[in-house]
Amino acid sequence: MLAGRSLFPEGFLFGVATAAYQIEGSGFGGCGPSHWDSFSATPGNVVRAENGRVACDHYHRWPEDLDLIRDAGLDAYRFSINWSRLMPDGRRLNDEGAAFYDRLIDGMLERGLKPFLTLYHWDLPSALADHGGWANRDTAERFADYAEKVVGLYGDRLASVATINEPWCVAWLSHFLGHHAPGLRDIRAAARAMHHILVAHGLATQAMRARSQKEIGIVLNFDRAFPASDSEADQAAAAVQDAIFNRWFIEAITRAEYPAEALEGLAPHMPEGWERDMGLIAQPLDWLGVNYYTRHIHAAAPDATWPATREVEGPLPKTQMGWEIHPEGLEYFLKRLARDHVGDLPIHVTENGMAHADTILNGSVNDHARIDFMQGHFQTSLNAIAAGVNVKGFFYWSLMDNFEWAFGYEKRFGLVHVDFATLARTPKASYHALADALRR
Ligand code: NOJ
Repeated sequence: MLAGRSLFPEGFLFGVATAAYQIEGSGFGGCGPSHWDSFSATPGNVVRAENGRVACDHYHRWPEDLDLIRDAGLDAYRFSINWSRLMPDGRRLNDEGAAFYDRLIDGMLERGLKPFLTLYHWDLPSALADHGGWANRDTAERFADYAEKVVGLYGDRLASVATINEPWCVAWLSHFLGHHAPGLRDIRAAARAMHHILVAHGLATQAMRARSQKEIGIVLNFDRAFPASDSEADQAAAAVQDAIFNRWFIEAITRAEYPAEALEGLAPHMPEGWERDMGLIAQPLDWLGVNYYTRHIHAAAPDATWPATREVEGPLPKTQMGWEIHPEGLEYFLKRLARDHVGDLPIHVTENGMAHADTILNGSVNDHARIDFMQGHFQTSLNAIAAGVNVKGFFYWSLMDNFEWAFGYEKRFGLVHVDFATLARTPKASYHALADALRR
């Protein structure tokens, strides 16, 4: 059984999270192309050649989806704006897109849901991608203009604004490992994206503060890096991955510096004069968002170029993604972040969840593994709270099954099952278990 609401501090927020490209459907309503449209149209990038064109058709079915959130007894909804829908070429406003988000945000307020907006959940307008995307500093300037426009339109109705979702994915996964759009494997582009995404965060935060926007934060992902053995080489491998994944972004924001273990490989590829941006990047936050899913084990790969590490398969039970289930890692990061970086600043668990091969049987989905997964992470969040960490909210990823990026529609993360042939929504056992916990 899931821990009931009454075990959490007074005012603790429970929510679900989604992202525009993963649920809305795109390419209509004045929506411009994004780099995910071209990435998914390129053979070999997405499983079964799937894309976000229809997704969950949330653009047309949003009232039903918001009803599901309200009916579960949730307090908040973390969603994102598709930059390419609001500004098809990254600059000009699309009135139809603006009207959609207007209705959506009003729809949340009418249902008593607190809107937690994410500005960038990966749908970069192609017009900006054509000019180098995040490898080009100008994209950061365009992002700040977009942020300013968004808060001008909706700011007074938002409970919270996050600038960037998972900058490690935006920069490293997409420009160094090549798994996400734009699919590059280029250390120079990666180093620039690692820096410019933080410049974008800094410029956008400044622009929104100038308009008196409140509750500004950023959503970072954390993944504990364990060494495969006690050897010095494996420990160094884990340390360099920890620096790239878990330290680069938070240390830039809270200490205005990058970790030496990561700079060692990236410094020769950084944009000219990057040091002068560190003050801009280190804007004070109102809250920190933590996305947490799993851990990884790293070994040295002596014949490879920097960072010269390889992943080793771990022994723990795994989700449909093949990710090890390790709830202790969430407690570890909540404590580490409070202790080393943000002190008493509010922290929201902005994403946590599991993919599971769910099927409908006699009208219901018995995803008991997901309930256990959630309980594991509720418990470790409670442990962190008991240890004094100021955790203020928990957002399950995701409301419903959706477009899981390069993995397409096969990996199901939802509390609500989506039949992608009919687009019918069916709440799973986990949805009902959460609704019950929120009443208790
Ligand atoms: C993190 C991302 O923010 C989200 O878009 C993705 O679907 C989940 N993790 C699951 O991989």
